[in-house]
Amino acid sequence: MVKIAVMGYGVVGSGTVEVFYKNLSGIESKIGDKADIKYILDLRDFKGTPYDDKFIKDFNLILNDPEITVVVEVIGGLNPSYGFVKSLLEAGKSVVTSNKELVAEKGAELLHIAREKKVNFFFEASVGGGIPIIRPLHHCMSANEIDEIAGILNGTTNFILTKMINEGMAFDDALSTAQKLGYAERNPAADVEGHDSCRKICILASLAFGKHVYPKDVYTEGITGVTLEDVQYCNDFGGAVKLIGWASRRGERAAVMVCPAFISSESQLAGVNDVFNAILVRGDATGDVVFYGKGAGKLPTASAVVSDIIMAAKMHNNSKSLYWEDSDKDFVLDLSGLENKFYVRLICKDKTAALKKAEEMWGKLKVLHRDDESENEAAFITAKINERKFREDCAVLSELAEIKGKIRVLDY
Ligand code: HSE
Repeated sequence: MVKIAVMGYGVVGSGTVEVFYKNLSGIESKIGDKADIKYILDLRDFKGTPYDDKFIKDFNLILNDPEITVVVEVIGGLNPSYGFVKSLLEAGKSVVTSNKELVAEKGAELLHIAREKKVNFFFEASVGGGIPIIRPLHHCMSANEIDEIAGILNGTTNFILTKMINEGMAFDDALSTAQKLGYAERNPAADVEGHDSCRKICILASLAFGKHVYPKDVYTEGITGVTLEDVQYCNDFGGAVKLIGWASRRGERAAVMVCPAFISSESQLAGVNDVFNAILVRGDATGDVVFYGKGAGKLPTASAVVSDIIMAAKMHNNSKSLYWEDSDKDFVLDLSGLENKFYVRLICKDKTAALKKAEEMWGKLKVLHRDDESENEAAFITAKINERKFREDCAVLSELAEIKGKIRVLDY
């Protein structure tokens, strides 16, 4: 009999328990043994659930119970999760988590402990909700050098952008709907300011490139600056605004960023709407492979957690843990050396002079239009330009016009 503990009974924790018991007989036949959840750890009281007898408040009951071999951490955040998970791995228990922050900040260290202790540390649910991506990237694509990853990695922001694009809905209304549907983080700033996508691209890049990519080294810009005007100009461009997490192998180093981007409607990422996520992985043998599905929500995320439970239970005493090494501080490149096209929106003092100056600095412009465009408004796409030069040129242009919008244009 495999005995499991679940730490945290929020959206993902309660979904995990629900999926586990709903599909128990299939799960047991996949494990090849009987299985049960012995403990559910949560400081809150949940009277009247069918699991009343399983709730505990003392972590040490799990840590010190030799019957428990697999522990699920779905509390979220770094504290107390980091201390709990570290102690559990050190005690020889396998851990399954959906906690992106934990893996993005402490993955290298926890994977190292798991390897030393010959147990597993699995985190399929940490990226893409119900989409299988961690194990496919690690196993099925392991023959490849992964050159590049570009993904829509946050369901909440994709939901908000879709509502803005398709329904002209205001940002705040779309966010509160996403919160009601259980997509958003406890603090939705982590979604809309890009930190959640940043953690996820860090995990994918670490796995793909074999070295830890830390969130603090990644340029991260969210969607709070994206306006309905930008969305309308993007329509004229022939695409959609998406929050993209991007990582690219550059020799022994990596370029990684999170930013809103204009994506051409020809791209496989442009038609990814609502809470759906999509992750494009470019392998040197496979070419582009796209993973698509529901990136947030109770049951899709629980599906990934329970699959990891099955794998951890099957692999007990037979570690198949994923792995990447720690990195030094220079592993992630500064963005200044990269080249991108940019969408720019201006409110001009002198429109002719501003456009002339912009074309002088940024090559032939593709001018965009929208309904209700004001007379002194101008919007365009630049040619490809070095990131540092673009920043410096914007300071020059701001003498002729107020820069209202700046969004990268990415080709995927
Ligand atoms: N808040 C996250 C999202 C949850 O919206 O994608 C899933 O990680």
